Amino acid sequence: MTKGALALLITGGTENWSPARWRQRFTAVCPDRPVALMPHDPIDPAAVRYAAVWKPMPGGLAAFPNLAAIFNLGAGVDALIADASLPDVPIMRVADADLTGRMIEYVVMHVLIHHRHQRYLDACQRDRLWAPPLQRAASAVRVGVMGLGVLGLGTADALRRLGFDVAGWSRTGKAIPGLATFAGEAELAAFLARTDILVCLLPLTPATKGILNRRTFALLARAGVLGGPIVINAGRGGLQVESDLLAALDDDTLAAATLDVFETEPLPVDSPLWSHPKVTVTPHNAADTDPDAISLYVAAQIARHERGEPLQNVVDRRLGY
Ligand code: NDP
Ligand code: OXD
Repeated sequence: MTKGALALLITGGTENWSPARWRQRFTAVCPDRPVALMPHDPIDPAAVRYAAVWKPMPGGLAAFPNLAAIFNLGAGVDALIADASLPDVPIMRVADADLTGRMIEYVVMHVLIHHRHQRYLDACQRDRLWAPPLQRAASAVRVGVMGLGVLGLGTADALRRLGFDVAGWSRTGKAIPGLATFAGEAELAAFLARTDILVCLLPLTPATKGILNRRTFALLARAGVLGGPIVINAGRGGLQVESDLLAALDDDTLAAATLDVFETEPLPVDSPLWSHPKVTVTPHNAADTDPDAISLYVAAQIARHERGEPLQNVVDRRLGY
């Protein structure tokens, strides 16, 4: 009997999101099932049981009457669940060691760039200047991680193992050995007040939209050893109010920002963020979803489903993550 088909709905644009590359990987890991890259490959919509998607065209998934599950090919589902015509089937997001490892690399690297004054040292080298700054221990720097999910927890743990003084903030309360935790709106101010480097790994939901705003920046610790608070956002661009961020950098409420995500992506060429002396811009590549690792992850989830086992990493549509 032919197995239910897998439809791929992938908006390309970067090398990692090359739809043809994803089709090649899925065809290799699902050899016994039709795999169709939409809208190019011919397929009977009624034969499609599964969809693996990245920013699919709104309305695209409503075409499959027998769909059983949707696999989002990233951790963040904000773009997907914005589609009001989405079929009422389980949505799974990526939660995978490969993706988590990539995000840990990104955040650790940028925390260290700030902690070790690397931008200043680059300028010194350019000017042939031998002028080492006072280098404090990692334990003198308080890092606050917003979002204690798969990525936030992995990152907080890695930073803690490097010696940073780490705390985390989440929607629901948590007890995590070795980590100071804060939860909800009621504990946000206390969390911010003990934070020198704010790392944002929240999902974009109606509750978190615009949370990196002037009020938040003003509540960050001002007496830290880095000369002012620093923000690192690798969650989603919609979490930050860019006009507030620029104003806070310009009036020294913030000492620096490292941004992987933006209100509009790609970041428009005329955005002042590109050339701001206190801003590091990266092109939403903190943690790419790797076709090799994630096609295997999706194939394993489909196999679980067909054995009658529960699907993993199911999105709560009501919460938006
Ligand atoms: P998870 O769903 O595992 O974790 C989300 C965390 O955010 C949870 O701790 C949750 O709290 C917390 N949270 C959600 N809403 C609120 C709220 N209103 N107030 C406080 N805390 C809240 O997500 P991941 O860790 O896997 O991923 C996080 C995000 O990272 C993704 O949604 C995506 O946007 C982004 N991302 C960015 C990438 C990049 O390359 N830049 C790559 C991959 C992901 P609780 O634990 O209480 O539920
Ligand atoms: C993701 C992303 O959500 O790549 O996985 O941003």
